[in-house]
Amino acid sequence: MLSGKKILIGVSGSIAAYKSAYLVREFIRLGAEVKVVMTDAATSFIAPLTLGTLAKNPVSIDFVKDSKSGEWENHVELGLWADLFLIAPLSANSLSKMVSGNSDNLLIATYLSAKCPVWVAPAMDLDMFKHFSTGENLQKLKEKGVHVLEPREGELASGLEGKGRMEEPPEIARAVYEYFTPNSILKGKKVLITGGPTYEAIDPVRFIGNHSSGLTGVLLAEACAERGAEVVLVSGPGSHKTKHPYVTTYSITSANDMLEVVQDHWNKCDLGIFSAAVADYRPAEAADQKIKKKEDDMLIRLVKNPDILAWAGSQKKDDQYLVGFALETENEEEHARQKLERKNLDLLVLNSLNDSGAGFGHSTNKITLIRPNNNLTKFELKEKSEMAKDILNAIENDLK
Ligand code: C5P
Repeated sequence: MLSGKKILIGVSGSIAAYKSAYLVREFIRLGAEVKVVMTDAATSFIAPLTLGTLAKNPVSIDFVKDSKSGEWENHVELGLWADLFLIAPLSANSLSKMVSGNSDNLLIATYLSAKCPVWVAPAMDLDMFKHFSTGENLQKLKEKGVHVLEPREGELASGLEGKGRMEEPPEIARAVYEYFTPNSILKGKKVLITGGPTYEAIDPVRFIGNHSSGLTGVLLAEACAERGAEVVLVSGPGSHKTKHPYVTTYSITSANDMLEVVQDHWNKCDLGIFSAAVADYRPAEAADQKIKKKEDDMLIRLVKNPDILAWAGSQKKDDQYLVGFALETENEEEHARQKLERKNLDLLVLNSLNDSGAGFGHSTNKITLIRPNNNLTKFELKEKSEMAKDILNAIENDLK
């Protein structure tokens, strides 16, 4: 996420200052360290106490902290502290001061001293935004390398409709996050991942399941998000979960539940990585009530579950890339190749239960990657977090 990154948020006097509270929260949620510098005018729109509490740091407003002791707020230090200075909202007044260099407040003095990238999110009423001075000032900032987050069209606080609404905090935070993620072809891509086991109900208390923990799905989802992708993880009832803000998790129980979510998302995605250990069969009927113990033996009729990966393969468009997993116990490579072809995959991740430390219940795995041209890449036994990176590197390579 953004842990280790220092974000300085500048708040100037615009009604959109109420959104700064959400903005601070977004960055805290992403793990960044946050400080806030405000203009005097901004304090009429939102209380420094609100922003300081959310940022977990005192807010800076005046040059002088304590006139008696001579303690002052060091704008140079603030500017040097930040990895990114984001002025949101940026009022027309502060915009003009950024251009003219009129540093009669701490926010602008900090801007003049900042060495880090500076981003601004203008927010003002329709006619102020349309004014020639606003356009000229924004153009000058752009020419000087300031990154401008264009305001949105929509209803403005004055009741007018048009351009001037500050970009929404989640979108601003997402753009900053992508800025700090490494250069990857997965940046901005939509990825669908399945992970964990499925449980197929026998009755309300019993099920047919397997030992998958869901760790591989979670690690793949987090690794994709760290490379800037937007991830949907469809996860069975395994023990591993993720709290990554850019992974949306759908928790499901059975193969039919998983298929439903996959069918809702696959056509909107660029990449699918299906690592779930889906039960191949389910009880033909799940009893409504707990089945009582009676006879010495009992038969449960099973019916085949839908093959979710095969469905996604059958729907795959030319610009989509699909990855499947295969856990084999014999004739591994041959079976895996057949699976790759049958399910119309671009990449198959093979792991064998014959390799110690591979498969379910370990934090490690030993994989072979197989592509349609029969190209094999074998990897050593390694931590599953490292395996996730190997798989993503291979995908990135193919997508280049
Ligand atoms: O055919 P097999 O079950 O071995 O294939 C494994 C691959 O297919 C895995 O990627 C798994 O997630 C997927 N799969 C599926 N739906 C099933 C069975 C397997 O998506 N019903």
